Amino acid sequence: MKALLLENIHPDGVRVLRERGFEVETRPDALGEAALIEALRDVDLLGIRSTTYVTAEVIRSAPRLRAIGAFCIGTNQIDVDAATAAGVAVFNAPYSNTRSVVELAVAEIIALARHLVDHTSQMHAGVWNKSARGSHEVRGRSLGIVGYGSIGAQLSVLAESLGMRVYFYDVVDKLALGNATRCGSLEELLDVAETVSLHVDGRPANRNLFGEAEFARMRPRSLFLNLSRGFVVDDEALARHLRSGHVAGAALDVFPTEPRTNDEGFASPLRGLPNVILTPHVGGSTQEAQANIGLFVAGKLADFVAAGATVLSVNLPAVQAAPPQERRILHLHANVPGVMATINRIVAEVGANVDAQQLATRGEVGYAVLDIDADASEDVLAALRAMPEAIRVELRG
Ligand SMILES: NC(=O)c1ccc[n+]([C@@H]2O[C@H](COP(=O)([O-])OP(=O)(O)OC[C@H]3O[C@@H](n4cnc5c(N)ncnc54)[C@H](O)[C@@H]3O)[C@@H](O)[C@H]2O)c1
Repeated sequence: MKALLLENIHPDGVRVLRERGFEVETRPDALGEAALIEALRDVDLLGIRSTTYVTAEVIRSAPRLRAIGAFCIGTNQIDVDAATAAGVAVFNAPYSNTRSVVELAVAEIIALARHLVDHTSQMHAGVWNKSARGSHEVRGRSLGIVGYGSIGAQLSVLAESLGMRVYFYDVVDKLALGNATRCGSLEELLDVAETVSLHVDGRPANRNLFGEAEFARMRPRSLFLNLSRGFVVDDEALARHLRSGHVAGAALDVFPTEPRTNDEGFASPLRGLPNVILTPHVGGSTQEAQANIGLFVAGKLADFVAAGATVLSVNLPAVQAAPPQERRILHLHANVPGVMATINRIVAEVGANVDAQQLATRGEVGYAVLDIDADASEDVLAALRAMPEAIRVELRG
């Protein structure tokens, strides 16, 4: 089994795949379409980060390819529909950098409350401005978390350990951690929070979630953070409320329009405003997060090849499967009535007993995993592959 890992994937990911028996080739850069097609001729697993584009043509031209690992968060760079149509599993690492984002948020909450960036830039400019005016401890102050998912919930725990009073609002009914208080609406949260931190997901309905009305509703002299998605905040409205002093400070890591490369300039109405921390979408960018991503995605790829496990795959139905004790058939097919009956009939005809069987479906795709006590002959595999509904059929064990 051969794995090709592009774009400097963390050594921990490389190590996991080698330990799990893969021959691993690593390359530091991304590959263009033609070079990628050439490189994938004899490759079973492909690992990329955000700058390699895996097009439908690439997937069609890679007959041995079984899975693609996006060693990052997003999967926009992969034609996921083409991967599904070819029975190629796609995995990513959506939660490996949660802690990194939370730690940055905690640092920024304290930095804003103490005007840290203004103090340090004045000092670098030779200005000594010793004053307690507008500076606060965060202990005892209220934090309102909007979006109580992986990041929001972990921030809740760390903020409480600093002595903050945590309030949260989520569109889904979430269990409060520690002593956090659930708010019934965003307005309820804005009425009580002295610092508001956004951690919502990127669903389209969240565009401009936070605009003129929401900033106006915030308590006077409160603080605002957004480390979630740029398009959820109207930065012009925020800039107005910062200039008026209604919002006393803000930390932004994400922006409606972000430069695509480090060579492009950064434009924003928030530039140059006092007590505003601007960071270039680095909330999740730490060495620890990279290592976590490497371990997580490599493990998912290896589990898929060894056992057919697809839990947390981006595109295939989720089947939790331990390594096979005997022969295992992996049958990916169009999700239409009668498929399982046909599979079971074909298996029964060779006198095999099905020891375990799992079926999961996702949209138009079904995935059956069968452990059988007899050798599946080439005839059985050929019959299973010949089913008109079959997308990909493989044998393990
Ligand atoms: N700055 C960075 O580098 C960085 C790194 C990782 C993640 N992120 C972003 O942080 C955000 C949160 O990530 P996560 O892993 O916690 O996601 P998550 O999916 O675990 O949690 C998001 C939560 O927001 C809730 N939500 C969605 N819309 C809402 C709304 N309008 N009001 C209230 N709640 C709402 C959801 O129900 C969910 O509980 C995502 O947008 C993610 O892309 C940024």
